[in-house]
Amino acid sequence: MNSILSIVYILSVVSFIVGLRMMNQPSSSRAGNQWAGAGMIAAILATLLMYRNEAGQGLQNQIWIIGGLAVGTVIGLVVSKKIQMTAMPEMVSLLNGLGGASAALISIVELMKLAENGFIVGMTADTQSGVPAYVSGGTMSILFSGLILGGITFSGSMVAWGKLSGRINDFGFKGQHIINLIILATSILISAWMTINIETTPAYWIIVIAILGLLYGVFFTTPVGGADMPVVISLLNSFSGLSAATSGFLYDNKVILVGGILVGAAGTILTVLMCKAMNRSLINVLMGSFGGSSADAGPGAQGTVKEISKSDAAVVLSYAQKVIIVPGYGLAVAQAQHACHELEKLLEAKGVQVTYAIHPVAGRMPGHMNVLLAEADVSYDNLIEMDQANKDFESTDVVLIMGANDVVNPAAKTNPSSPIYGMPILDVSTAKTIFVNKRSMKPGYAGIENELFFHPKTSMIFGDGKKMLQELINEVRNLD
Ligand code: TAP
Repeated sequence: MNSILSIVYILSVVSFIVGLRMMNQPSSSRAGNQWAGAGMIAAILATLLMYRNEAGQGLQNQIWIIGGLAVGTVIGLVVSKKIQMTAMPEMVSLLNGLGGASAALISIVELMKLAENGFIVGMTADTQSGVPAYVSGGTMSILFSGLILGGITFSGSMVAWGKLSGRINDFGFKGQHIINLIILATSILISAWMTINIETTPAYWIIVIAILGLLYGVFFTTPVGGADMPVVISLLNSFSGLSAATSGFLYDNKVILVGGILVGAAGTILTVLMCKAMNRSLINVLMGSFGGSSADAGPGAQGTVKEISKSDAAVVLSYAQKVIIVPGYGLAVAQAQHACHELEKLLEAKGVQVTYAIHPVAGRMPGHMNVLLAEADVSYDNLIEMDQANKDFESTDVVLIMGANDVVNPAAKTNPSSPIYGMPILDVSTAKTIFVNKRSMKPGYAGIENELFFHPKTSMIFGDGKKMLQELINEVRNLD
């Protein structure tokens, strides 16, 4: 049985890798997700049916496992059906947190089992779970890594969830980085001390380590604000993978190990890419020390704001040769993606070349705009990445900014005191004409003014994105 199980595990691992690979392309990403999901279902079912311990017994607690799976599946299905696209980062945070909590709880359970046995080296700790009879330093360090990393992931993700949903405010104090480092170092030192003095250490130190891990997660996430949150979420995602991998090591389970490492590696790569896209160094992220919303945004932008009527905008758009649409968070809030696609088709029918410029952190999660536009059947070929778009703007007649703000804010290039200074932006100012749709002059996510709205080439079209586009579409149609 166990050799068939091993083969299923290998096939599951292959399906994770193939699935991940397919997620490289928007066109195959949905199928990639299904491949990886199928691999996970196969691994779970095979474990339930085929796992045998050294004494040849199958799992003894199947009712609990099936019960847990059923409850989790129902909650997962209901929540994922109901969740709004704009609340997706919150859901990712919650899922990251639950992954971390599972790893931390596994470590606590196994450490407590060892403690019950008085940490006696050489004594059988737990044959069923696979923790070796001789509790080696390696096993202890895996247990403590799972405990600390899982605790950090859980509390950090809960704080990130609270911040994204507006329930928790940014919070920081002077010297917080030093205290963060002391907390982390203390938890590691106590773990090392327990590992060395395994036979004499009181078990309550396990709880002390868990609390330190939780505290670090909180202190590490609370000061991060404004435009830097996505980096932390992606970092916590990689932590959740690594903490899951510790369980794979512990139980010598290849699927959990490889799955955890894949999540850890993907999260780390994404973190690095996001750091680049937002111009933040990874070390700053690790120390929880970057621009919060309280950072100096510099002097507010000033000048005259020009407005344009929808009928005039329709004329300019209809007689343009090349139009680039810049989608942002506001497009997602307005759920205006279908109307946007309709306008695109209408303009294309008039011979206008229409493309979409995608900033890597437009919206509230990596790939947010790609997913949003894919939902409205916008062709992937019409999406252009930031570097290409910045070259294309110069030869563009009209840039239509739909609910984007920070990602087109020139302060990122011109104002060293701005919290987003250094972040690469879509430099739309080289286009001939700029139209901006938003509801008011309020700032975007980073909470700072945008001088682009006062630029001589810019005209504002105020209103909710969907309503505005529907009216604009009618105006374009009326020109026929
Ligand atoms: P934002 O800077 O957040 O600006 C969005 C704009 O949309 C707002 O200024 C808002 O102005 C407008 N808006 C909101 N609802 C609207 C509606 N119904 N109709 C029309 N406009 C509406 O968006 P962005 O340019 O996409 O930048 C994203 C920001 O989020 C960046 O700072 C980024 O770092 C951060 N962030 C990104 C991610 C990822 S990974 N993508 C995750 C977390 C945070 P009004 O209120 O005046 O309408």
